[in-house]
Amino acid sequence: MTEPLLSVRDLVKTFAGRRSRTGRPGAPIRAVDGVSFDVGAGETLGLVGESGCGKSTTGRMIVRLLDPTSGTVTFDGTEIGGLSQARLRPHRRDLQMVFQDPYSSLNPRQTVSRIISEPLLVQGESAAAARKRAAELMELVGLIPEHLDRYPHEFSGGQAQRIGIARSLATSPRLVIADEPVSALDVSIQAQVVNLMERLQRELGLAYVFIAHDLSVVKRVCDRVAVMYLGRIVEIGDKAEVYGSPAHPYTRALLSAVPLPDPQAERTRERIVLLGDPPSPADPPPGCSFHPRCPKAQDLCRTERPLLRIAGPGSRQAACHFPEGPLPGGLSRDLPVM
Ligand SMILES: Nc1ncnc2c1ncn2[C@@H]1O[C@H](COP(=O)(O)OP(=O)(O)O)[C@@H](O)[C@H]1O
Ligand code: SF4
Ligand SMILES: [Mg+2]
Repeated sequence: MTEPLLSVRDLVKTFAGRRSRTGRPGAPIRAVDGVSFDVGAGETLGLVGESGCGKSTTGRMIVRLLDPTSGTVTFDGTEIGGLSQARLRPHRRDLQMVFQDPYSSLNPRQTVSRIISEPLLVQGESAAAARKRAAELMELVGLIPEHLDRYPHEFSGGQAQRIGIARSLATSPRLVIADEPVSALDVSIQAQVVNLMERLQRELGLAYVFIAHDLSVVKRVCDRVAVMYLGRIVEIGDKAEVYGSPAHPYTRALLSAVPLPDPQAERTRERIVLLGDPPSPADPPPGCSFHPRCPKAQDLCRTERPLLRIAGPGSRQAACHFPEGPLPGGLSRDLPVM
């Protein structure tokens, strides 16, 4: 990759722990615990993992809805992670976010015109120019420009998410963080919104960080994929390598949970059932934080934390003392795509 558009290094976010009923402060929550990755111009990185692993917190730090506890966020050569909000403003145009729940992320008391225009008004654009642009954006995302003066509740879930996408594109960003943009939508609508995002990427040259809790959703859209567990990336690499021969037992487990369309493949493939829920980020297990749930855990895993390192013939990295070899066959080959 040439100089990446976005470069995230050792990003950490610690939240204060909840106080107990006796008023004692709880253990701090390391929601994001040293995350690093790059995203090239026009590229899509899928960011995947179970609920609570730190995906949204990572996305929110990149667009600075949250301040990082430590680490750097470099966008197009400028370190923006530590800039004041005033200094950040010129960069805001380039970095936008789409949220999971379209209704709760759109102000119900504002018209669609106002909602889509707002990022432009913040940048000092005139009201008339912003409204004209809002009409163009409605058309771009497949909505009717005449509906600009309607309110969010007058649209279906899929249409509301199109409004969220239109708003994110108002300032012509170069990178959009899409935080589970289709998770709240009906399955029948999900593919339409993913199609729209793909078309916009082609037409506008956008880069995406596409967040999902499920590997099947990002399979079609991503060029590379990062799998998170308890605040850390446990596997990251090109789509073909990660889906074709996942090296981390957690990635294998996530892939094996996705139903396959072919009943024969579904009957014969490997299935890995993860025991229990992920542990709390306030009290992560020692060593490899995945060890209490890992079918391959050994003594070393309980004491020594595995670092990300190259696993396999390509550039894919995995954080596992005993990374898996090539697939026995069929685990993800037939994974359905939307
Ligand atoms: N504002 C907050 N205060 C305290 N804990 C938080 C806050 N936001 C998120 N967390 C915790 O941080 C962890 C990661 O959350 P999040 O980034 O939302 O995960 P994901 O998006 O992967 O579901 C979770 O344990 C969550 O409860
Ligand atoms: S380091 Fe050990 S416990 Fe962790 S994923 Fe690898 S085999 Fe499993
Ligand atoms: Mg989230």
